[in-house]
Amino acid sequence: MTRDEIAARVPDGMNPDVRLHQRGRAELEFLAAQRAALDPLRARVKARIEASPEAAAWADAPEPRIDDLRAAAERALAGSADQAVIGAALRWGRRSLTPRAAAAFQAQRAELAEFAEAPDPAAILDRGEEVVPRYWRYEFHGTTGGWDGHEHMGFVHHELVYRYLLVPAYGDIFRQRAEVAAAAPRTDYTAVCDLGCGTGQYTLKLAERFPGARVTGVDLSLTALRYAQRRAADRGLAWDLVRAPAEDTGLPTGSQDLVTSFILLHEVPPHAIRGIFAEAFRLLRPGGDLVFSDVAPYRERAPYQAWLDDWDAENGNEPWWRSTATAELVETAKEAGFTEVRQQALGPGGYPWVTFARRPVEKEEST
Ligand SMILES: C[S@@+](CC[C@H](N)C(=O)[O-])C[C@H]1O[C@@H](n2cnc3c(N)ncnc32)[C@H](O)[C@@H]1O
Repeated sequence: MTRDEIAARVPDGMNPDVRLHQRGRAELEFLAAQRAALDPLRARVKARIEASPEAAAWADAPEPRIDDLRAAAERALAGSADQAVIGAALRWGRRSLTPRAAAAFQAQRAELAEFAEAPDPAAILDRGEEVVPRYWRYEFHGTTGGWDGHEHMGFVHHELVYRYLLVPAYGDIFRQRAEVAAAAPRTDYTAVCDLGCGTGQYTLKLAERFPGARVTGVDLSLTALRYAQRRAADRGLAWDLVRAPAEDTGLPTGSQDLVTSFILLHEVPPHAIRGIFAEAFRLLRPGGDLVFSDVAPYRERAPYQAWLDDWDAENGNEPWWRSTATAELVETAKEAGFTEVRQQALGPGGYPWVTFARRPVEKEEST
């Protein structure tokens, strides 16, 4: 395949020059094929749940409880082995994924390091191990080693795993990040902060949308930040990158006019979500905007989809998905002091689900 053909297949933001040799590629493609092979089982599970009047009624309950939907789905699936097989394959796939992607990287280390190395890692402001919350050490998504489980985890995950597994399964998953950046209320921001920026996929869309802004990315993963720095440098961009918790960034008060995040909130427990809203309020100048995009609330989902989200979260090591998908983020934003709070689904099925809010000007004047 030529470089142009590859460039046409990998979403904008990924590096079309990165290529695995046959063995590493075959291992990751096998995991992708194994996932796709379960489609007929998924279709049967979906049909059974959708045929259940009890599951359908869940959506109309005055206060729909996800445990009730789970119980209704379990009854609908009684006697079928399909979901057990999907679960076993999911857990095995997730355990295998990072080790296989990391092994593929190691096998080609000399050539891939050229694409993966951060140009100036010392420029990343590191607030140190002491500020890393315990919940972040969890083995996220059931992968081995957690967010920083490999020296080049940012690259391994965002170039190799995305390319060979996620893009074939879901297509251009970065387009939604551009849509969220475009939904921000203004275009004239001068200081934009991306909380939980990871390897900079959303940060890149922010930099494109607000070319005049100084861009700051905050994350707890050093390996992700290093690859974010590389991603920016490859495009002639420079971002301020900080390793710190989003709920305690250490950045100056009132230094930003847009504080935003893409799929950070469902990675953290409820107390940290409250901390992140409070920190966003502190960072914003009066009149500044908050735009947080995350998973769809269960109440916005059709019963099968809500059930699947919750089942996947439980079986795929997403400990904070349920609490986030059932959280009242409008209240959280108001408690932090925000006004003009509203929420909007930008895509079908309630995703991306975006919370917008503004730091009021009056607040600043009265203090
Ligand atoms: C699902 S990734 C999303 C990354 C990025 N926003 C994107 O759009 O690709 C979530 C990121 O949040 C980071 N993270 C989790 N908890 C955090 C916290 N309390 N403070 C800062 N970053 C955090 C993880 O290290 C990870 O890079």
